[in-house]
Amino acid sequence: MKTFKLSYILIIFLVISSQVFATVPSPNWGKTGHRTIGEIANDYTKSKTKRKIAEILDGQSLALVSTFGDDIKSDSRYKNFNTMHYVNMPFGVKYEDSEKNAEGDLVTGIEKCKAVILDKNASKADKAFYLKLLVHFVGDLHQPMHVGRAEDKGGNDIQVQWFGSGANLHSVWDSKMIDGFEMTYTELANNTDKISKEQVKFLQKGTITDWVNETQTFAVKAYASVAVGEKLSYNYSYENFETVRSQLQKGGIRLAKVLNDLFL
Ligand code: ADE
Ligand code: ZN
Ligand code: ZN
Repeated sequence: MKTFKLSYILIIFLVISSQVFATVPSPNWGKTGHRTIGEIANDYTKSKTKRKIAEILDGQSLALVSTFGDDIKSDSRYKNFNTMHYVNMPFGVKYEDSEKNAEGDLVTGIEKCKAVILDKNASKADKAFYLKLLVHFVGDLHQPMHVGRAEDKGGNDIQVQWFGSGANLHSVWDSKMIDGFEMTYTELANNTDKISKEQVKFLQKGTITDWVNETQTFAVKAYASVAVGEKLSYNYSYENFETVRSQLQKGGIRLAKVLNDLFL
């Protein structure tokens, strides 16, 4: 009788907890994605930028600090930063014309980080805090589902199957495809597509807002790539992983531009 009761309680617990976990929005490019962007950015930063960053971060690498934005999510003192990891715009509406989130978004988050780093009166600790966040947010800006629709929380509410397990579209783009590729962040950073100096310059053109609008075009394609509840596996990565690799590369190259401009 006792074992029966215990198993009953255990089953109820498992059912409830699986429901809870199913609705928790997944964070960001997973750790590997963010680190890859940090590592690629390091390849495109000027020596003066590298020197200034090393000073502020006490020698910590961009790859190491790139995940800081997620780490502080578990500290309620920093909950004001939660909306700065994404921006939601209806399809076909550009950032400039969209209704803004009064609590902040990726664009205002990045602007805030830049302002503190440029502020002569800011403390070294504040500069370090906002520099780490900047590295993270410029990464998030290149994850298509971080420029998704508000109504499904950037794909967090679009349930799919990933190799037979429950997942959502957001997490597939944050981490499932990257993890399935089984390369470390250094391997991913060392195996980007070869591009010319002119192409790098071209990618570094434009504003943060232009880059957000560009990422939205990949979000539109990502939404169109699945049906709710669809069973995704190898073929989905086969069709979409080139976009992930290219967005990681662009994220790194553009993060370097943002940093080079700050530390001119
Ligand atoms: N993470 C949590 N809410 C989100 C949203 N609305 N869009 C993108 N990512 C999110
Ligand atoms: Zn995410
Ligand atoms: Zn994030």
